[in-house]
Amino acid sequence: MAGRVCIVGSVNMDLVVRAPRLPAPGETIAGGPFKTFPGGKGANQAVAAARMGAAVSFVGRLGTDAYGTELRSVLSREGVDITALRATAGESSGVALITVAEGSGENTIVVVGGANAKLTAADIQGVSGFIRLADVLLMQLEVPVETAAAAAGIAHLSGRKVLLNAAPARDVPDELLGSIDVLIVNAVEAAHLAGVKAERSLLESDPVGTARLLLERGPGAVVVTLGPAGALVAEGDAVRRVRSIEVEAVDTVGAGDAFCGCLAAMLAEGKSLVDAARVGCVAGALAATKAGAIPSLPQREAVRERLKQQEA
Ligand code: RIB
Repeated sequence: MAGRVCIVGSVNMDLVVRAPRLPAPGETIAGGPFKTFPGGKGANQAVAAARMGAAVSFVGRLGTDAYGTELRSVLSREGVDITALRATAGESSGVALITVAEGSGENTIVVVGGANAKLTAADIQGVSGFIRLADVLLMQLEVPVETAAAAAGIAHLSGRKVLLNAAPARDVPDELLGSIDVLIVNAVEAAHLAGVKAERSLLESDPVGTARLLLERGPGAVVVTLGPAGALVAEGDAVRRVRSIEVEAVDTVGAGDAFCGCLAAMLAEGKSLVDAARVGCVAGALAATKAGAIPSLPQREAVRERLKQQEA
């Protein structure tokens, strides 16, 4: 049965340019084409969960500009309940400046928070009913950490499952981590929260140790996403590796969000964390095969089809 997911998070317009490679500091290179896509980690994860069949509500803030109008209608068309998505007078909507490298599909992103940064803990109190009604609360860190903490507190007290995708990498207090059921991070975010510098080599040399370091900070479980290498799921004493599928990546923007939104939808349906991560890896890989954030997010049927092929 479909579950209910509440997202507290960001919504951005992504300004994306493709380039032969990512430029080095101080370097100017020619790129193109230039395109705009709807995005933002919160909105991407909301649409990813909705496309997996979950009933999704979204708590966030938009500006009163043309991007705001467009982003609102994108979420609405996807069937996301946007009753708790508020306009912020005098603010611009969030914007992300993104470069995508041809060939690898790798990216760099600079985010301008705009109205997302104005989502307050007081806003959360005003829409707490959406959080209490959901089976799963999913948050990211493109809104203030105190706002995420307020939402986590309400969900935790109401016995809801609380998921935090700690992206982009920021400091997170132990008190907030202690109210999280599932912490989802990539290699960079894992290293940041574990307080170590060499993120990639640490994960390669000691992935299990890294996951355990994060568990010690208080969350009930930790999922570390590893791109094409799948994900690590650490719960209690067990650390398991979940495989991904092979795809040709053209644009990795939104792939991590596809994973998170799908994971939330599957947990809301009652799946185990490992099974939900398995489905999430397929959703993330499929998202990397198309350009843009929201336009690349896969539908449930496409994910199911690839899962069947993987199991055969
Ligand atoms: O995770 C990808 C997202 O990060 C993009 O859509 C961009 O808006 C930034 O928030």
